[in-house]
Amino acid sequence: MPTVSMTVNGKAVVADVDSRTLLVQFLRETLRLTGTHVGCDTSQCGCCVVHVNGDAIKSCTALALSLEGADVRTIEGLADGDKLHPMQEAFRENHGLQCGFCTPGMIMTAVEMVKRKGNKLDEKTIREELEGNICRCTGYHNIVKAIAAGAEAMGKSA
Ligand code: FES
Ligand code: FES
Repeated sequence: MPTVSMTVNGKAVVADVDSRTLLVQFLRETLRLTGTHVGCDTSQCGCCVVHVNGDAIKSCTALALSLEGADVRTIEGLADGDKLHPMQEAFRENHGLQCGFCTPGMIMTAVEMVKRKGNKLDEKTIREELEGNICRCTGYHNIVKAIAAGAEAMGKSA
């Protein structure tokens, strides 16, 4: 089997992978980072969003082998020890989740949204940017509120 090396949440990892292994399988099954979820496997739901070299991608759409040398960040890499990332804290404060299944993908999408769109996010922008993330529980209102609050908080903590 071929070998792939990449950095995941700041740690160098090297592993043998089948050439068909998706990034999401590599994260969940090889590295046991199960915070990245699989909701559809057809690149629609966004539960599997992670950051690759700073960009948000659906990890069910990338082959692990194609990411040789990449810098990957998952939901497990967001908090600073026991201190939640401001976007995680904002989801908690604003009740931006119910079952929580979509939440890791929502948060990873949101953090990258702030990087591209800045700390003052209006509702329309947030809703448009969430086009690729599906939540079956919340009706989205509190997710939108959480992302606006988290974006502001990220500006203050920067
Ligand atoms: Fe990747 Fe649904 S599992 S988009
Ligand atoms: Fe249940 Fe979003 S909180 S799917």
